[in-house]
Amino acid sequence: MVNLGLRASVAMSARTLAAVLLLQLGDAIGENSQNQLATPPGDAARGESIVTNRQVGLCLLCHSAPAGEPRVQGNLAPSLAGAGSRSSAVQLRQRIANARSINPDSIMPSYSSTDGLNRVAPAWVGQPILSPQQIDDVVAYLQTLRE
Ligand code: HEC
Repeated sequence: MVNLGLRASVAMSARTLAAVLLLQLGDAIGENSQNQLATPPGDAARGESIVTNRQVGLCLLCHSAPAGEPRVQGNLAPSLAGAGSRSSAVQLRQRIANARSINPDSIMPSYSSTDGLNRVAPAWVGQPILSPQQIDDVVAYLQTLRE
């Protein structure tokens, strides 16, 4: 939990931006040629468990969602209900990978960032919070949330 707060305060770097651009490029390529994705497409069921698991995604610390245990959901951020109608897959991936590339003041953690992590437990050094596959899974799940 503490680690997440520290990670949330990490400044965006050129390297992170490059990673986001690469992810977006990957998405554009994926849309044109489904069979040439670097990673298999996301799995919505796995994504839901990442979002609702308070040890993994921690999304419900800040957000509410039409999933998981309603009594333990956060209200620091907009509800994820309808997120798939408001944003494309590319936009969702960018938000999760690096929320501060959209809103520099965001308190939302940059889930693919490994830069500038200070005072984190040794097991976390050099590790993003979510792997590219996990981010794909979360995007696939969010795309099912339509309104
Ligand atoms: C520390 C709080 C926090 C956590 C944890 C967090 N978010 Fe966010 N999120 C926010 C805030 C605040 C916003 C509103 C935009 C902003 O301020 O950047 C937001 C915006 C979003 C949006 C756009 C909302 C919309 O209306 O379409 C999506 C999608 C999203 N978050 C998904 C996630 C997912 C998925 C996770 C977990 C992997 C997550 N967030 C974890 C705080 C958080």
